[in-house]
Amino acid sequence: MLNKKTLLSGITATGKLTLGNYIGAIKNMVKLQDEYNSFVFIADLHALTLPIDPKILEQNRHNIYAIYLACGLDPNKTTIFFQSDVMEHGLMNWLIINNTTIGELSRMTQFKDKSQKVKSANGMDTIPTGLLMYPTLMVADIMLYDADLVPVGIDQKQHVELTRNITQRINNKYKLDFKIPEPYIPNVGNKIMSLTDPTKKMSKSDTNEKSSIYLLDNPGEAYKKIIKCVTDSEGKIYASPDKPGITNLLNIYSALKEISLKDTETYFKNKNYKELKAEVAQTVKEFLQNIQTRYQQFLPLVDKLSKEGAIKAAKVAKANLLKLMKGMGLNNEK
Ligand code: AMP
Ligand code: TRP
Repeated sequence: MLNKKTLLSGITATGKLTLGNYIGAIKNMVKLQDEYNSFVFIADLHALTLPIDPKILEQNRHNIYAIYLACGLDPNKTTIFFQSDVMEHGLMNWLIINNTTIGELSRMTQFKDKSQKVKSANGMDTIPTGLLMYPTLMVADIMLYDADLVPVGIDQKQHVELTRNITQRINNKYKLDFKIPEPYIPNVGNKIMSLTDPTKKMSKSDTNEKSSIYLLDNPGEAYKKIIKCVTDSEGKIYASPDKPGITNLLNIYSALKEISLKDTETYFKNKNYKELKAEVAQTVKEFLQNIQTRYQQFLPLVDKLSKEGAIKAAKVAKANLLKLMKGMGLNNEK
């Protein structure tokens, strides 16, 4: 137990979780929880970086916690908590901010994308400061648990790379030994695509509900979304960058059935698009039915389990925060 390495991951509480979140992130957290000392949280502080209605945020937090449990995160193996319940995250963020440059943060792809969207949405040249600081809070999250491994989807890789650089810088500057975290990115399904435009990522912030399968979608509706998804007109089934729609369906099937992409391609090789869509749709439908039954059972436990999780998480967070504070000359407790 003591020798286990530490895993940390989280999902921002900005919207309804999608199948992309499950395949790209949660599925791996579940797979790795036996092997690692695991911490998984709901990034509710990150959710504040773009405008959000407090009632919606509260709902999202609650739902995501229950979805984590429904997807198989086990509170006996993984410490599951709300980021904002562990006060250390905010202070740690300040320590990190003071070891980061504006240049580093403004070069982040996600910052550029999101700030561009904000600008075009409100027609003004103002960008919320939180968007720029988003990655420093992620660095803080990761260092607070001295994580070895950070499972994320590919779009978050750059933030983990930044964490590696900043951690190294802090270690050198203050003579500390924080771990340099490794990102963990799944081979299959690291980018599940939109059902209406398969060149774009399936995203919980997409305004077109037909583009995404939400984990709490009515399973029958989800079936229909897959049947209607955009593909191409070639008629042959194989994975290729020129066939993003078909490749996406193959990836979804492969991830949910736990079989390789190669085997999935072989399985569908002599079938037509209609058959492919029907089989993927059925697989997704059954997956959702199963998750949603468990979700209902877990909902009443969220308050109790999240309190317990926060207490466990805070112990570890506090120790690492004090370590950095001492290194920076802010605490002289022996
Ligand atoms: P987000 O929904 O952007 O807050 O992302 C939460 C986590 O899910 C991150 O680890 C993402 O990389 C992952 N993720 C989100 N959307 C997808 C997707 N379409 N395909 C794969 N992973 C995703
Ligand atoms: N930014 C991640 C997302 O897109 C959530 C997150 C916040 C996170 N802090 C993290 C992920 C630390 C891994 C490690 O949802």
